[in-house]
Amino acid sequence: MRAHYRDEGLSEKDLAPDPFAQFALWFAQATASGLHEPNAMVCSTADEQGRPSSRTVLLKRYDERGFVFFTNYGSRKGREIEANPYASLLFPWHGIARQVIISGAVERTGRDETAAYFRTRPHGSQLGAWASEQSSRVASREDLDRLYAQLAERYPEGEDVPAPAQWGGYRVRPETVEFWQGRENRLHDRLRYRLAAGGNWEIERLCP
Ligand SMILES: Cc1cc2nc3c(=O)[nH]c(=O)nc-3n(C[C@H](O)[C@H](O)[C@H](O)COP(=O)(O)O)c2cc1C
Repeated sequence: MRAHYRDEGLSEKDLAPDPFAQFALWFAQATASGLHEPNAMVCSTADEQGRPSSRTVLLKRYDERGFVFFTNYGSRKGREIEANPYASLLFPWHGIARQVIISGAVERTGRDETAAYFRTRPHGSQLGAWASEQSSRVASREDLDRLYAQLAERYPEGEDVPAPAQWGGYRVRPETVEFWQGRENRLHDRLRYRLAAGGNWEIERLCP
């Protein structure tokens, strides 16, 4: 499959008119190729001084409004986004010689959207979201396990767990989306959608 995509390349005439449709096509192909966790993406943010930080998160939904992941708003990424509401999302689909990079402004999903998604999570993950004050220091593994055990006692399996106030979704509204296709001799294809004035998507080819 990797070889197939490399031979075929990516040309302007084959691109969908907007990056959401193009992403849907590539995401379906990444999933069909058997890649492990094709929805895992590297999310980069920067603090107020412009110092970057990165971590993997899971894409949970996407549509024409943007690309959504869920996390703790008090985590490092959460604090950086609140201070500097921009992010980059990178899908490292090495196994099929592809990469997608999205960048844009970030906003919180609505509380209803967060609550609806939280209800779909396994009970243990729901408790985990309460137990973990993500990115803050914890004295020991035992402290974390003790907190989890207390929560499991309070909310036994089958009991509704509310979404913590500090936990929720972020939606990245793309301003640029680059589709990278590996080719022979390092002459890769890079086609980038850019949101132009008026809301139209312009497509530009970048040197590899
Ligand atoms: C495959 C994978 C998927 C992950 N998905 C998420 C996720 O969806 N949300 C999340 O908050 N952390 C997720 N994590 C953990 C993050 O990478 C990170 O450790 C955590 O969010 C704290 O990041 P921060 O301190 O930079 O805010 C995932 C890690 C891996 C390896």
